[in-house]
Amino acid sequence: MKKLIRTVLFITLAAFIATSALASEGGNPRKGKHLYKKNCKTCHASGGEGGLVTPMTKTQAQWDRIFKKKKHNEDGWKNLSDKDLKDIQQFLFDHAADSPQPQTCG
Ligand code: HEC
Repeated sequence: MKKLIRTVLFITLAAFIATSALASEGGNPRKGKHLYKKNCKTCHASGGEGGLVTPMTKTQAQWDRIFKKKKHNEDGWKNLSDKDLKDIQQFLFDHAADSPQPQTCG
């Protein structure tokens, strides 16, 4: 019986660590959506100069990687504060291709 409890505890802990490894947390997705529309869609609507980018374009892991590296080759991200980017990241992450609610547009 003790062993069973330990196993259950271990699995719970492992599941917790696995989900928190994809770490987009703490941003405000509603603000992020607004910021995404305002700051990203200008170049990332279909036919835009950056090509179509929507939450669904990437997986959650990909979004995390993109925002962690903060690599963007254009001026698009320069005017955004870290907090703004976190909110945008949260919105994109919450609706990524492998999220429970994928979204094609903002
Ligand atoms: C001034 C125009 C502009 C703005 C604003 C802009 N981008 Fe971009 N973005 C580009 C261009 C140009 C590329 C390069 C496209 C390519 O590689 O063909 C790019 C590339 C990207 C890529 C990589 C696309 C891929 O398929 O790998 C992502 C993701 C991205 N942008 C996200 C964003 C997000 C999120 C925002 C808003 C915070 C944003 N961009 C704002 C112009 C812009």
